[in-house]
Amino acid sequence: MNTSLSVECLFSRQAARVGASEIRELLKLIGSGDIISFAGGVPEPSLFPYDRINLACDRVLGDPEVRAKACQYTTTEGFPPLREWIAAYLSSRGAVLTADNVLITNGAQQAIDLVARLFIDEGDRVAVAKPTYLGALQAFDAYRPDYLAIKTDDQGMLPGELEAAMKMRPKLIYVVPDFQNPDGITYSSDRRQFLVKLADEYGVPILEDSAYDQLRYEGDMLSPLIALGSQAHGSIEEGCYIHAGTFSKTVAPGFRIGWVVAPKPVIQQLVCFKQATDLHSSTINQILMYHVVSEGFTQHLDRCRALYRGRRDAMLEALAENMPPGVTWSRPLGGLFVWLALPEPLNARDLFNQSISKHIAFVPGDAFFTDRSVRNTCRLSFSAISTEQIQEGVRRLATAVKELISR
Ligand SMILES: Cc1ncc(COP(=O)(O)O)c(C=O)c1O
Repeated sequence: MNTSLSVECLFSRQAARVGASEIRELLKLIGSGDIISFAGGVPEPSLFPYDRINLACDRVLGDPEVRAKACQYTTTEGFPPLREWIAAYLSSRGAVLTADNVLITNGAQQAIDLVARLFIDEGDRVAVAKPTYLGALQAFDAYRPDYLAIKTDDQGMLPGELEAAMKMRPKLIYVVPDFQNPDGITYSSDRRQFLVKLADEYGVPILEDSAYDQLRYEGDMLSPLIALGSQAHGSIEEGCYIHAGTFSKTVAPGFRIGWVVAPKPVIQQLVCFKQATDLHSSTINQILMYHVVSEGFTQHLDRCRALYRGRRDAMLEALAENMPPGVTWSRPLGGLFVWLALPEPLNARDLFNQSISKHIAFVPGDAFFTDRSVRNTCRLSFSAISTEQIQEGVRRLATAVKELISR
């Protein structure tokens, strides 16, 4: 064997298609020093329910039978009481399902990957919003789809564009109906109904990603697509509605506990894929998570919402006070992000370079578009920085924008 051979040339074709997430690479660069970062989108660590986690650890490790179970292999489907909890939660939101429809995954990210593996062959079409969650694009890319990127307004995907996309028979449609990452939009009730109706009519599976739906700061929660779809048929087993969820944003991402909910034949095949990937999600983390969420979860969510609402408001106020005319931004009803648009032809990458010199970071929005075609947008996260940092950060960002405009 030629010892000077570079190992990269032995990598599979798939390796060439899946690169590092730009956001994660960017976070590595800016993770140090006195940078005020709007880039992350991670939850506020002081909200992690440490006391409840401590209590859960005591309970699990203090009981010889439970701790033996917690440290042992388990079934791929997941810890039954946690599956029951998720089924009960989604039933309370209107979905018609049982715990057999739930598979526990390593975060919603694994749910997206497993579903992509199930439906997408090279050249298949996948319909997504324009823009959409970068991590989903990263997962889909490995399976080489062609994207149908559907424009949105503040109510969701535009009906005409959505119908035109459906006529092109995509294999899958991926939607984040609540406080979408990156642009914070929430689908209206009418658009949800329309989406479900069209998916049925054209026989296209919907993958609904509900990563943020419990983080609503105003207004009433809207029905998840899985509820609308399963109610229309009287059961989740008819039609093909798939729902991915996670405890990453509401409890703590370090547990890596998410879920996928789907008709049983879909779950059975996803279980086979998951077995091949990692056998099952961490037993002890699933059991701890069950203990953490089965008591006092509503009060915990209220605390999260109150803190994030205050930070969202601080960011919106600071933007209104400081940004020059021509700059526009979203007003999200929940979630962790504000989406900013610079007046054209300004480029968010140029603003990024300008901002870094002022110790400010954010994510340039082009990464969230399948074709990178939109260059003037920025994703600003308000979740893990104090209101003082938000005010100071927005002031500096506005100065950078003004400098860019006057160049
Ligand atoms: C829309 C969306 N879906 C899924 C995920 C992944 O979440 P998890 O930590 O559960 O894998 C994220 C994380 O940021 C997200 O924004």
